[in-house]
Amino acid sequence: MSNASDDRAGLSRRDMLKSAALAGAALGASGALYPAVAESVTAGSHSDLAPPAPAGAKTMKGVPFERHETVRIAIVGTGLRGRSVLHDFLGCPGVTITALCDNVPEKAQRAAKMVTDAGQAAPALYTDGDRAFEQLVQRDDIDFIHTATPWEWHVPVMLAALKAGKHVSSECPFGMTLKELWDLVDASEKYRRHCLQLENCNYGYNEMLVNRMVHAGIFGEPLHGAAAYLHDLRGIVFEDRDEGLWRRRWHTTNNANLYPTHGLGPVAWYLDIHKGDKFEYMVSMSTEERGLTLYREETVKDKSNPKWQEKYVTGDLNSSLIKTARGRTILLQHDVSNPRPYSRLNALQGTKGVFEDYPARIYVEGQAGGERWGSIDTWKAKFEDPLWTQLGQAARNSGHGGMDYIMAWRTVQCLREGLVPDIDVYDSAAWSAPFPLSEISVAKGSAPVKFPDFTRGNWKA
Ligand SMILES: NC(=O)c1ccc[n+]([C@@H]2O[C@H](COP(=O)([O-])OP(=O)(O)OC[C@H]3O[C@@H](n4cnc5c(N)ncnc54)[C@H](O)[C@@H]3O)[C@@H](O)[C@H]2O)c1
Repeated sequence: MSNASDDRAGLSRRDMLKSAALAGAALGASGALYPAVAESVTAGSHSDLAPPAPAGAKTMKGVPFERHETVRIAIVGTGLRGRSVLHDFLGCPGVTITALCDNVPEKAQRAAKMVTDAGQAAPALYTDGDRAFEQLVQRDDIDFIHTATPWEWHVPVMLAALKAGKHVSSECPFGMTLKELWDLVDASEKYRRHCLQLENCNYGYNEMLVNRMVHAGIFGEPLHGAAAYLHDLRGIVFEDRDEGLWRRRWHTTNNANLYPTHGLGPVAWYLDIHKGDKFEYMVSMSTEERGLTLYREETVKDKSNPKWQEKYVTGDLNSSLIKTARGRTILLQHDVSNPRPYSRLNALQGTKGVFEDYPARIYVEGQAGGERWGSIDTWKAKFEDPLWTQLGQAARNSGHGGMDYIMAWRTVQCLREGLVPDIDVYDSAAWSAPFPLSEISVAKGSAPVKFPDFTRGNWKA
């Protein structure tokens, strides 16, 4: 690595060598020294990796929801995503939307009209400023709150909801720092309410089918997964509305994988993370930042536009490798700044075969036709997830190919029937941890960084 790039990362050569030495030592010392790698890095500290459990803390793993005949739902953030999730909840039996919140009143009103158009009573609206959600969470007619705000509001909304005794979920990322992720774990345990990320991609058709194939042993012993968010968002993040109003800003502050969970959530299910395995450590590296800078040059012709004051620091393509406690590996990538067709990679290699997505294809040792990719279609009759068999027709009219409806329906089912949620606070924290951990590793010259064990030892069962 050149001195110039060391300078860009804000690291002295000595610092880098020290990190490398620590990381090397850590590898030979069963992980004991990994936290040292993260020391003195602003995005994380020793205590963020393993803070002591608060007195009396009890796990939320395996804890069922209480039963609700009707699930009363509130949504905070009724922009594009909030309204899309609202549409799906409105299509589920046994749901009442009781309250909505957005700091832009017209957006809340637009969402409220969707509720009344669906034949429900007008929901209560909270639109008085950035912290109006603090009033919403106090209502006693809410069972579950979903937040689809800009990222910086996910954690404040969830902490307020938990404190007020409400189950709560968010979009990706669940939190942006290790401290935030621990705060969510501790608050969920303290207030005995579920706090989770509603990761729609875990409910995708291919993901659910492949998950069943993995657990039926079709691919043999799982060895390696690949996960990503590779999506050309340049047009969207430069718009003067919706995500363009806030998402680009993260590219001026964090050189990291900013959006890890759409790819990682499903792969975590394939690999039984927190059901006998856990993410152990990761290494990460980023390319230079070029995409947003070039896009601005090409599209923002007026040099007095405030966008010209911005300096983008997020490397275009971030690549990380995660090692699990059982020795499996995961490639995790992020790029929203360059032209390319959409992909979440979504792959799984085992000792007997391999699945790769985009486009979906499967090879299992000994299959007819020899060592060539076969169609996923041949596996559908046997391994299609029963939720898709039951709901596929209705789901296909909803967002993202239907996965959003399956996710909403399943969430409501868990709440109505008093089931353990599919995704808990520990899963959600671990799936978003690559945001801060990739930032630490990139800043430390790709040094290995240990994952916190958010389950505090409860991952083995
Ligand atoms: N799961 C998915 O497939 C998916 C798809 C798109 C977006 N998202 C996620 O959804 C979230 C929202 O994205 P979006 O595309 O809807 O953006 P958006 O800008 O369209 O919507 C965000 C909304 O939050 C409101 N808001 C801002 N601050 C608020 C506050 N303090 N209190 C209440 N409301 C506030 C805004 O006015 C806006 O209406 C983000 O986390 C994004 O990453 C997820």
